Amino acid sequence: MRKQPKYVAFSTQKGGVGKSTFTVIVASMLHYMKGYNVAVIDCDFPQHSIKGLRKRDIDQVVNNDYFNKLAFEQFAALNKKSYPIVDSSPEQAIATANGLVESDNMEFDVIFFDLPGTVNSRGVIDSLSAMDYVFVPIIADQLVLESGLRFANILSDNIVVKHGNRLKELYLFWNMVNGREKTELYDVYETVIRELGLSLMQTLIPNSVRYKKEVSNDRKNVFRSTLFPPDKTLLKGSNLEELVEEICQIIKL
Ligand SMILES: Nc1ncnc2c1ncn2[C@@H]1O[C@H](COP(=O)(O)OP(=O)(O)OP(=O)(O)O)[C@@H](O)[C@H]1O
Ligand SMILES: [Mg+2]
Repeated sequence: MRKQPKYVAFSTQKGGVGKSTFTVIVASMLHYMKGYNVAVIDCDFPQHSIKGLRKRDIDQVVNNDYFNKLAFEQFAALNKKSYPIVDSSPEQAIATANGLVESDNMEFDVIFFDLPGTVNSRGVIDSLSAMDYVFVPIIADQLVLESGLRFANILSDNIVVKHGNRLKELYLFWNMVNGREKTELYDVYETVIRELGLSLMQTLIPNSVRYKKEVSNDRKNVFRSTLFPPDKTLLKGSNLEELVEEICQIIKL
């Protein structure tokens, strides 16, 4: 009998708030830094942006001596392969993951799902309710935040621990926080979040240009990659290690 991995999604209705970014970075940190085994189910049809990123990451490693050596050393030391990224429709996401869990040589600790933001699609709702945990990136822009809170509220009212659904908990976290200090605006928003009975993570993620970085020929500092964890120098001040710690606690890894 294989162990049952945790099913986790970074999800919200609004586009461009960091769903795919955190899926990739957190998956890579767990798999390449923390010693866990993960997989990603890429349901973001038709872009399949994570699958696309993996293709570019592989090209880079094949064509660039520096990354080739880095990959060789990393995988020799880890003694395991890169994590699988499997395309799926949102409807088939759980079946796809279950199939992978049954058939892959690897025993997984966590499966991440990158789902599209359309909650009015039955497939997305069903897949979300089959997650163990959902993390919702929110940003302090009124319209984006309202949409994020509406999404979290609907999910938590209708799905969390109801009708035998698997979803246990839903956590919001601040992304793209500007400046060194949070402003009073955040306090106001956090009051609303508490009043709605929603859970907010302690870690907040700063707005940072390093998120625009992918591996490229002229750059040796990896940040978002499906084959490497973020470079140590770029991790500093990113709060990603704190985020990963907090996620591990929440999902009891
Ligand atoms: N903390 C951050 N600071 C700066 N840029 C960020 C941050 N988080 C994410 N981004 C950037 O925001 C953009 C959107 O992120 P991402 O593609 O992960 O969003 P998404 O929610 O998956 O969007 P979609 O709904 O289109 O799939 C990306 O260019 C990403 O690099
Ligand atoms: Mg995306």
